[in-house]
Amino acid sequence: MTATVVIGAQWGDEGKGKITDMLAAESDVVARYGGGDNAGHTVVVGGDTFKLHLVPSGILYPHVVCVLGGGMVVNPRRLLQEMDGLAARGVDVSAARLLLSAQAHLILPYHIALDGAAERSRGKSALGTTKRGIGPAYADKAARSGIRAGEMRDPSAFAERVRAAVITKNELLTRLYGQEPLPAEEIAREYQEYAVRLAPHLADTSSFLVEALHAGKRLLCEGAQGTLLDLDHGTYPYVTSSYPTVGGALVGLGLGPQHLTRIIGVTKAYQTRVGAGPFPTELLDADGDHLVEVGHEYGTTTGRRRRAGWLDAVALRYAVQVNGLSELALTKLDVLGGLDPLRIAVAYTCDGETLTRFPADAAMLARCQPVYEELSGWEEDISAARAFDDLPQAARAYVARIEELAGVPATLISVGPEREQTICR
Ligand code: GDP
Ligand code: IMO
Ligand code: MG
Repeated sequence: MTATVVIGAQWGDEGKGKITDMLAAESDVVARYGGGDNAGHTVVVGGDTFKLHLVPSGILYPHVVCVLGGGMVVNPRRLLQEMDGLAARGVDVSAARLLLSAQAHLILPYHIALDGAAERSRGKSALGTTKRGIGPAYADKAARSGIRAGEMRDPSAFAERVRAAVITKNELLTRLYGQEPLPAEEIAREYQEYAVRLAPHLADTSSFLVEALHAGKRLLCEGAQGTLLDLDHGTYPYVTSSYPTVGGALVGLGLGPQHLTRIIGVTKAYQTRVGAGPFPTELLDADGDHLVEVGHEYGTTTGRRRRAGWLDAVALRYAVQVNGLSELALTKLDVLGGLDPLRIAVAYTCDGETLTRFPADAAMLARCQPVYEELSGWEEDISAARAFDDLPQAARAYVARIEELAGVPATLISVGPEREQTICR
């Protein structure tokens, strides 16, 4: 009866997919608890790359049951495309292996149209969303006008709900944003077919998960996005519309906290961000180019070049704080090879003062200058290291300093994208 949570400790893309896949080997159930297909989780096994957006990163192990939790927003069209893509590669995505919470909210075409329209209307203050309809879908949920996955159990009533919702949202699209209306009948017909296909996957997933825990099964909760993108705890308004932090796992899955035994924060050995918003340690120089090119820092979902910079330990300590992290999974340590010296931000200066606490206020964070500590780099390729002692002394010292600054141990160290390229301590 154990539940482990994997949480992004930065602004997303920390390598949660890789770490989840690795830990899934020793899990019975893997459940996503929030977000939607704004997520892009990469799993690399024996040279084969899988990019998962909605399906949990445990799906490659035949013994694992995967759950899309009630805290998610799910685009049925994209879910079916992803399931078909996996099935074509021989992965079993049958209803016995992939459950969809009846409480999850659905992303419909008008959410995507409204996401794009709202971004355009923000002009220079655009948030840089993934334009997947995430914000508008969560807004409908909070406004109690959303359509939940459970409604797909009755495909014809569902189609009627969709048709009426498209007509209502067309008012917004045409009158507020001056756009063309969406074709209500066509969308209703299309989504009725999706309902027929997805209905067998619908489940009361809270009951399923809690019963599994009581039966002694091992649950792995897979976070999407990251702590600094959390709607409440992130750099608002440059955040997503869900709760990637540990509380989101409990609400999004319908679990009590007593089940949680490990809360793993995934952090890169440096920092990245995709989309707009403050980023104190961002590098716009050759070192930044090194991180982007060697680390292949291009978005899994949108292909956008990610912004990159030195590791921000002020932000990392904050992630430990708001999630109660028990440990870290440190990824992409290999990418730092060849950079010397390395830097870690250990504090900020802001308005003439020194700050050691992370200000979760975008305007204030934008005025913060990092205070760096310098550490020695290493030249060696460390991607073949499988034990901590295989790492060069400078890399071991870098990891030790991160552990000291974060106040929690790095129990997993990743030195490459492949499942095996991991040091477990
Ligand atoms: P996620 O959203 O947190 O699952 O992360 P993404 O999959 O969006 O981005 C992480 C990228 O880094 C993917 O391309 C991974 O294959 C890759 N990756 C993960 N861990 C490592 C690592 O330790 N070293 C290197 N070089 N790449 C890694
Ligand atoms: P994974 O799970 C990185 C960012 C977007 C934008 C902001 C809001 O792969 O780590 P949204 O479409 O959610 O309304 O966009 O959040 N964002 C992510 N950045 N990784 C992600 O997911 C992200 N999901 C959303 O770039 O800045
Ligand atoms: Mg990603």
